[in-house]
Amino acid sequence: MAADFEGLESQLTLARALPTTKRVVAKQQKTCAENLRRRAAGSMTFSLDTPGRAPLVPMIIDHASGCKLHDLDGNEFIDLHLGFWTGIIGHSPGVVAEAIKREVDRGTNVGVGHTLEIELCELLIEHIECAEMCCLAVSGTSAVMHALKLARATRGRRKIAKFNQQYHGHDGDVLVDLTEFGLGIPRSDHTLVLPGTAEAFDLIRQHADDLAGIVIEPAPPVRNPLPFYDLAFFRELRRLTAELGIVLIFDEVLRGFRSRFGATLDDQGIVPDLACFGKIIGGGLPLAAVVGRRAIMELGRTTGNALRDHSDRVPLMATYSGNRIACAAGLAQLKHIKQHQDEIYPYIKEKSHWLSSEINSHAIEHQLPIVADVMDGGLVVVHKTSAAIPPAGPMHPAMLLQTYLRDQGCYFNGGPIQISPAHRPSDLERVSAAFKAAMADLVKDLA
Ligand SMILES: Cc1ncc(COP(=O)(O)O)c(C=O)c1O
Repeated sequence: MAADFEGLESQLTLARALPTTKRVVAKQQKTCAENLRRRAAGSMTFSLDTPGRAPLVPMIIDHASGCKLHDLDGNEFIDLHLGFWTGIIGHSPGVVAEAIKREVDRGTNVGVGHTLEIELCELLIEHIECAEMCCLAVSGTSAVMHALKLARATRGRRKIAKFNQQYHGHDGDVLVDLTEFGLGIPRSDHTLVLPGTAEAFDLIRQHADDLAGIVIEPAPPVRNPLPFYDLAFFRELRRLTAELGIVLIFDEVLRGFRSRFGATLDDQGIVPDLACFGKIIGGGLPLAAVVGRRAIMELGRTTGNALRDHSDRVPLMATYSGNRIACAAGLAQLKHIKQHQDEIYPYIKEKSHWLSSEINSHAIEHQLPIVADVMDGGLVVVHKTSAAIPPAGPMHPAMLLQTYLRDQGCYFNGGPIQISPAHRPSDLERVSAAFKAAMADLVKDLA
């Protein structure tokens, strides 16, 4: 074990000594200095300090707008992720910023019911097939936790199942198989991890008596590294869970409203019992929702009799659930997307395919084991084909590309790329050129 860490440490030292890394550090002097000051003062930020994921060079932002990030040193970067995928129309779109300004003087968090909460729930119910009822939450993680609570209360069982390597937020019960995110947490024994193959159906049958619910991301086919789930797989999962009475939960936190206005598989007629939404529905502010069939969702609502609630109900609580400013932002973003959906989604889809093929041809030209795929028309995933460039680990090309693309004026965190209408064709030409130059430098530095 110790030897592995030593290996990792020496790779990181090597990566920090690469000419490109040094160049990036020189360009981001204030950013680096501020990072050191912040660290000494003990302040931790998720994107800069998360164990196992910290970037080689920190990124400290002064402001963001459209598709651009501006750091403390005055450098401008084309952002390829838009606030952890919370935006698909760019940073601080006018409609969202105006809606926030309108609401902010009317009470930041009123803590009791308000009309924006109702309006947002109604919009979600109108556009999501399984949504007979809707309850707002603060984050994707809390929406998934609400859904699991509802499933457990429905079935009177604790065990849940999830699919191998799928991410559903940071609750311990859904992190069991994710070594990177689950570092340091004792493994939960309430979770069955299923493979993304037909073998899963046998396991579900075997454990049916113990299972409350099954959570899965409604992911259409993507190549390695995720398992290959196709529509037939989802149809069979829906059929089997309905037959066995197990609650089927679709985690739509990342994908909902991303490639179509609503739930990912609704147009295929594959409808879960519960679904969780987040990211886009909050317009860049913390907001999420769990929606689903009335018979299940009702368990989260009072019977009207406090004594009866104690035995029959499951509270879905959080201080900031249905926060008014977040509801204003989310509603403004969703209404804008709804109104312009015929331009927004086709633009993102066309440009995602274009960028993916550009990245692939640059990778072939530079003989790098990198491949780009488009996930359900809305996200470009860049991953390794088979073997990482030796030495492996942090020298994995997707990790190193973060630094090399930064040098070329693009912010890439290794995760899926979100293109938006704020990324104009000229910006995307720059992104493609940046990938090409970054790969050339990567090959040169590692030669
Ligand atoms: C599929 C999925 N589920 C759940 C979550 C957790 O959401 P949050 O980070 O808002 O808690 C994420 C976050 O990336 C996600 O991608």
